[in-house]
Amino acid sequence: MEKEMVVVLDFGGQYNQLIARRVRECNVYCEVHPYYISLDKIRQMQPKGIIFTGGPNSVYGENAAACEKEIFELGIPILGICYGAQIMAHLLGGKVTTAPVSEYGKTEVEINTQASLFRDVSETTICWMSHTDYIAEAPEGFQVTAHTPVCPVAGMDCPEKGLYAVQFHPEVMHTVEGMKMLRNFVMNICDCRGDWKMDSFVETTINAIREKVGNGKVLCALSGGVDSSVAAVLLAKAVGKQLTCVFVDHGLLRKNEGDEVESVFGPEGAYDLNFIRVNVQERFYQRLAGVTEPEQKRKIIGEEFIRVFEEEAKKIGAVDFLVQGTIYPDVIESGLGKSATIKSHHNVGGLPDCVDFKEIIEPLRMLFKDEVRKAGLELGIPEYLVYRQPFPGPGLGIRIIGEVTEEKVHIVQEADYIYREEIAKAGADKGLGQYFAALTNMRSVGVMGDERTYDYAVALRAVCTSDFMTADCAEIPWEVLSKVANRIVNEVKGVNRVLYDCTSKPPGTIEFE
Ligand code: XMP
Repeated sequence: MEKEMVVVLDFGGQYNQLIARRVRECNVYCEVHPYYISLDKIRQMQPKGIIFTGGPNSVYGENAAACEKEIFELGIPILGICYGAQIMAHLLGGKVTTAPVSEYGKTEVEINTQASLFRDVSETTICWMSHTDYIAEAPEGFQVTAHTPVCPVAGMDCPEKGLYAVQFHPEVMHTVEGMKMLRNFVMNICDCRGDWKMDSFVETTINAIREKVGNGKVLCALSGGVDSSVAAVLLAKAVGKQLTCVFVDHGLLRKNEGDEVESVFGPEGAYDLNFIRVNVQERFYQRLAGVTEPEQKRKIIGEEFIRVFEEEAKKIGAVDFLVQGTIYPDVIESGLGKSATIKSHHNVGGLPDCVDFKEIIEPLRMLFKDEVRKAGLELGIPEYLVYRQPFPGPGLGIRIIGEVTEEKVHIVQEADYIYREEIAKAGADKGLGQYFAALTNMRSVGVMGDERTYDYAVALRAVCTSDFMTADCAEIPWEVLSKVANRIVNEVKGVNRVLYDCTSKPPGTIEFE
């Protein structure tokens, strides 16, 4: 059975990856290529459909992004979105001009529900607009299928030629019925079957990696988090022992985490790869001694991590490829403009500069977190690793307020373990984005067995969030909280008080530092 594919031609817009994601939600494989890809290449790929994305240019601009006009003669259905719609209109003889009023944001659009792109869509529907130019006149042979009070051609089509266009962005959530429109294009107009699943992603990616890597040597920094784990397993399945994974145990991991990672990826594990665990706990504790300022801790941990990795990479010698577990949200984030540095984790210089390599491989670049998890399950990675909650790179270093010491790491590891254990037992983790224990820098008076104590307070945190940019404090059942508090005070030496953090983000952040 031939593989179905939709090609997204990237004209530089900000939602391009999102279009690909939406197509894949229809279970149709999708690739993003630059708008200047040759027609021969497109023919070779035999796509069932092509989507032109938005873009920042004007079709009349000096370096306006334009594809070859013959693309419209290939007999492959094409959907133009925003700039993609304008370039289609422009190349086919329509008229594109600067709109008298720019439309930006949610806009009511009147549509022709007879048009095949708008099957089952409401006559008036909210769409996301973001444009300064617009199509003033559709090209000959096209009919107008949508309009707004200020945009005469918010949609147009020429079904005989398989050409469709919309001025708004059906791929973003704010276009309420956008998914219906994209589904109409992919399933009804392009006539896709929709049988692409994660196993096909895994298979194609493994084949592509094999082809790219050849006999080359590959290096991967494995953290034990879901992204780097899935990336490592994909590489291991593709090139086996040509891959070396370096796992730096900085002594700031959760209880048992280092051993768990080793049991999955190490010599006793299921994968045929070279695994190096670097135990540098002491080295990190020494570097962190006396340091209390959060950003300084982050910096030290980040820099030391890179140094350790660099030393290991030198031992291995020059490698051809470096694997990064970059996923789609990272791609979007790095594409956004400058914003204030609240915490430096998004600005930390990564690994690439410290290693001698030819090329980076980012096999998960096109996937969202839930898709990475699906791929992980498909690859046979244990569920507890696949569904592991996010864990910051500097680890417990930023969950211990004030100076980090080995003793404090031990306290927070034990408290956190109890917390996670009780949440799991009670099945209270549904809907929680992240939950953990942190060690406050506060000591207070308590009484235990007639003795006065002067010990630390542990803070428990649990938040509901889907994007981690904002978060609500989670309502953990009281019985669970009081059981956790009891167990921590009884079982963890050095703790005599447990507090629950009721702050949302903003104004709080998820981590304490
Ligand atoms: P905040 O604390 O900024 O956390 O609300 C948002 C998400 O980012 C994670 N986080 C980090 N991840 N390095 C990381 O890799 C860091 O320094 C860091 N600080 C916060 C945090 O766990 C949450 O998921």
